[in-house]
Amino acid sequence: MNPFTSIPQHIAIIMDGNGRWAKSRGLPRGEGHRAGAESVREAIDACKELGVKYLTLYAFSSENWNRPQTEVSALMILLEKFLKSRAPDLMRQNVKLDVIGQIDRLPESTRQTLRRVMEQTAENDSLTLVLALSYGSREEITAAARKLAQGVTEGRWKPEDITPELLASHLDTAAMPDPDLLIRTSGEMRVSNFLLWQISYAEMVIVDTFWPDFRQGDLFEAVKEYQKRHRRFGGL
Ligand code: IPE
Ligand code: IPE
Ligand code: MG
Repeated sequence: MNPFTSIPQHIAIIMDGNGRWAKSRGLPRGEGHRAGAESVREAIDACKELGVKYLTLYAFSSENWNRPQTEVSALMILLEKFLKSRAPDLMRQNVKLDVIGQIDRLPESTRQTLRRVMEQTAENDSLTLVLALSYGSREEITAAARKLAQGVTEGRWKPEDITPELLASHLDTAAMPDPDLLIRTSGEMRVSNFLLWQISYAEMVIVDTFWPDFRQGDLFEAVKEYQKRHRRFGGL
C-alpha cells in the first residue's frame, strides 16, 4: 500500500456474519464465532502494519443480550479465552486494550479478565484495540445526557454550557478520535446502534464477506477504498 496516501487514524468494524458463515457450512453458530476470533487477529495485524492508531471492534451489542442464553454464554467464554490467549501477542505488538459499553452487565469472570489485560497493556502505545462490549450507542448517549443533567442540577453547568464537545467528553469514547473509516461485513447496510454520534463523518465501507472470512487483505482493500473518497465534512 502506498505509504504516502492517508491512513485512517481510527477504524471501526461491525464484525457481522458469524452465524451465516457457520450455517453455510452446516456448522453450529458457535463455530462461526470461534472462526471469527481468528479474523480479529488478522484485523489487528493489518492495523499494526498500516500504522492505524485505534481499532474499535463491535463484539457484543446491548441488543445481543436478547439472544439465547447458550449463545450469550458461549460468546463470553470465547471472549475470555481470546483475551487470555492473545495477551502475550498484544504485549509483543505494543497494543493497548480498552473497552466501551456497559461492562457492569458482563459476567464477573469476563470483567476480571478484561481488567487484567487492560492493566497489563496500559502502557502500550502503538495501537489501541477498543472492544465494544454490551455496547449500544443510544444507551451511551443517554448516560451522557443523564450526567449532564445531573451537572446542571448540581450547578456545575448551565443548560447553555452544553455543547457537542461537552457531550462528547461524557461518552465512553471521550479519549479517542472519531472513526475515519467504518467497515461492516456480511453485506448488511445498517449501523445497528453502533457509535451513532461518533460516525457522523466516517467513511463507510460495506463488504459482502462474512466476518470469519475477513483477512488482512480485506482490510487493506477497505483502506484503499477509503483513500479514494473525498472527505468534505460539509465544506466544498
Ligand atoms: C456477529 O455475527 C457476531 C455478533 C453479533 C456477536 P452474528 O452472530 O450476528 O452472525 P449473523 O449475522 O447471524 O450471521
Ligand atoms: C451487530 O450485529 C452487533 C455486532 C456485530 C456485535 P447484529 O447481527 O447484532 O446486528 P443486526 O441484528 O443484524 O442489526
Ligand atoms: Mg448479525
